[in-house]
Amino acid sequence: METQIFKPDQIEAAAALLKAGQLVSFPTETVYGLGADATNEAAVKQVYAAKGRPSDNPLIVTVTGQAMVEQYAEPLSAKAQALIDAFWPGSLTLILNLQPGKLSKAVTGGLSTAAFRNPANQTTLALIQAAGVPIVGPSANTSGKPSPTLAQHVYHDLKGKIAGIVDDGPAQVGVESTILDLTADVPTILRPGAVTEEDLEPVIGTVRSTHHKVGKTEVPKAPGMKYKHYAPNAQVYIVDHESDWPAALAWAQAQAYPVGAMALDHVLAANQLPANVEAYTLGPDLASASHRLFAGLRHFDLESPVKGILTQGFADSGLGAAYMNRLNKSAGQVHFQR
Ligand code: TXA
Ligand code: MG
Repeated sequence: METQIFKPDQIEAAAALLKAGQLVSFPTETVYGLGADATNEAAVKQVYAAKGRPSDNPLIVTVTGQAMVEQYAEPLSAKAQALIDAFWPGSLTLILNLQPGKLSKAVTGGLSTAAFRNPANQTTLALIQAAGVPIVGPSANTSGKPSPTLAQHVYHDLKGKIAGIVDDGPAQVGVESTILDLTADVPTILRPGAVTEEDLEPVIGTVRSTHHKVGKTEVPKAPGMKYKHYAPNAQVYIVDHESDWPAALAWAQAQAYPVGAMALDHVLAANQLPANVEAYTLGPDLASASHRLFAGLRHFDLESPVKGILTQGFADSGLGAAYMNRLNKSAGQVHFQR
């Protein structure tokens, strides 16, 4: 299969492929998604095959807004309504109870709930509008690899396996949406993202987080969170404190192989880089670091192979909770120890 690249003004052609049961990758403000008509079970099944994704891991349903959610979900609670009003379109995915039989098992993994997302990307909202159906939207990477923040990343992972990619430039946020379970007694963050606990609590009151505590034996409620994720070929080492960088770079220099260093501009500028260390800047701040994390991991996988990647850690709160969640997974919790 030849994978066609579409510009934002060619969404009619991309929508026609979706309507015909084909797979098309779409842009969002978080990461690129892999789209298929959520009402076409055969199309949805192909998503798992293209990504190499375990079939018990349910998919996000990507919608143009509240009206599309109401076709599938039970009547919205006051909290769901308040969250939709405050954060949609945007990087907040809501887990809601479904009307029975409204979405196929291929979408829900057999759960009685589904994850609904309304991305802040005009091209994709127009694409769904043109297709006339919600589209499933897992990240458009090979399962286990870093999520794609550029159309080129999607092309690398899925060329020949999907019909098209709508290229709308870089995804701004860079980490996937916050997933909030509204079917729990207390609304619960299953995956941290750019919409933070601190953003949610003023709107709906107390919110719980499970993502800090997912252990090896526990079965996480977002099934996807149990799989190895975001992993480049090289071992990633988290450098927790800026003051650890001189020791981390001295360790790197003593290795017989090339090492990557991903850190903020001012950290890279403040440290002497050994000859076997290649820098990849995370930009000026936490927002740019979140935007560049997956692209940096892919850079060292594909363009500049290394055996280890030292990567700057941040405090585990606000957007830092999302960044550290992804970084911990890509590192398998390995921290640089001086
Ligand atoms: O930002 C995003 O959310 C991106 C873009 C493309 O929209 N999508 C994304 O999808 O990250 P995916 O499939 O890579 O991650 C969705 C997560 C998985 O961990 C899945 O297990 C969980 O959502 N999930 C889906 N449906 C669920 C449900 N009914 N209950 C609990 N977790 C669910
Ligand atoms: Mg994913």
